[in-house]
Amino acid sequence: MRQNFIETTLTSMKQKGLYNNIKTVDSEQGAYLNINGKKYLNLCSNNYVGLASDPRLKKAAIRAIEKYGVGTASVRSLIGTNSLHIELEEKLARFKKAEGCLLLTGGYLANMAAIQTLIGKEDIVISDELNHASIIDAVRLSGCKNKFIYKHADVKDLRRQIPEILKFKKRTILIVTDGVFSMDGDLAPLPDLVKVAKEIGAYLMVDDAHGEGVLGKNGRGIVDHFHLHGKVDIEVGTLSKAFGVMGGFITGNKELVEYYRQKARQFLFTNALSIPDTAALIAAVDILAKSDRELKRLWDNTKYLKDELQKLDFDIGKSETPITPLMIGDENTAKQYSMELFKEGVMATPIKFPMVPLGTARLRLMPSATHTKKDLDLGIKKIEKIGKKLKVI
Ligand SMILES: Cc1ncc(COP(=O)(O)O)c(C=O)c1O
Repeated sequence: MRQNFIETTLTSMKQKGLYNNIKTVDSEQGAYLNINGKKYLNLCSNNYVGLASDPRLKKAAIRAIEKYGVGTASVRSLIGTNSLHIELEEKLARFKKAEGCLLLTGGYLANMAAIQTLIGKEDIVISDELNHASIIDAVRLSGCKNKFIYKHADVKDLRRQIPEILKFKKRTILIVTDGVFSMDGDLAPLPDLVKVAKEIGAYLMVDDAHGEGVLGKNGRGIVDHFHLHGKVDIEVGTLSKAFGVMGGFITGNKELVEYYRQKARQFLFTNALSIPDTAALIAAVDILAKSDRELKRLWDNTKYLKDELQKLDFDIGKSETPITPLMIGDENTAKQYSMELFKEGVMATPIKFPMVPLGTARLRLMPSATHTKKDLDLGIKKIEKIGKKLKVI
């Protein structure tokens, strides 16, 4: 007989404040969202520099649809590779100052491909304890038996484990880290990881999902931010956040990218990215490469939001990027905070287990270049009001 674990699980999630009430948006992504016919200040999207609804991306997508249609009707390795895919790969490689780039249909898949294709059962993975779920899942998928997890961003803890790691002879070693940690907004200690990787002959991989379009010159990402071009073997990116569309990619040296192109199951066994997505992304890369005006606005807004919240005595963690966690702790309080803000016309999603450890729930506030100071002031006023009501401050 089938166990009724599904109903039990859903009920228990509801009781613990872990159940997701998913909202439906009926507008473009921008400073405001339309939900159930009402306008809400948007403090939760990853639309860092406003590209998700940029008219230039829309135009590029429409033009491409008229020329090539919508879908590619095949995987890339059969007949699904359109000239737009190649153009995007070349532009992304140039933007990231890498030799080559492989495009995939999501950042999650790109992490899967980057890790599973390189690492086998007997190899070694060294991973930050707070790495994104897609990295954790990718390591699981690789079947790797030799995992070394170091304390968050703690290179000393990694070094402490080196003697144990080096007992494994002649095995591929991969050090993998988020660039920007997506729940806290802090940065990986990439320069020190480069040194460790060199010392122990490891590959170094960074998932730059929240760094692209945000860090470095014109948003080239964390490797550019730390001036480490050529020193990080594998960069994984998403095209769903600052780039404003969807998709993922891997950049690295030509040989490595070709290895992934020939071997990665997440490339070989899934359809190519759609025509409008690809065309819009070409426009997105062109826009980022040409101007940093929106990027400056993003950072201005970030500083303003953080300064004002700190003046009000909120705990905003140790973020170094626009990701602004408003630390709460209890899952139900975080959920209630978000619901009360919603009633006040502000969208700020609660982040809770399993996205972060139990007892560390928070609201994750995401300023973007689309906000004006007036928008942010409105949000701050409402956040203060509910914070006082729930005794968070
Ligand atoms: C750090 C990190 N890596 C990977 C991903 C997955 O990217 P995508 O949404 O393109 O699948 C995300 C997005 O949630 C992320 O935050």
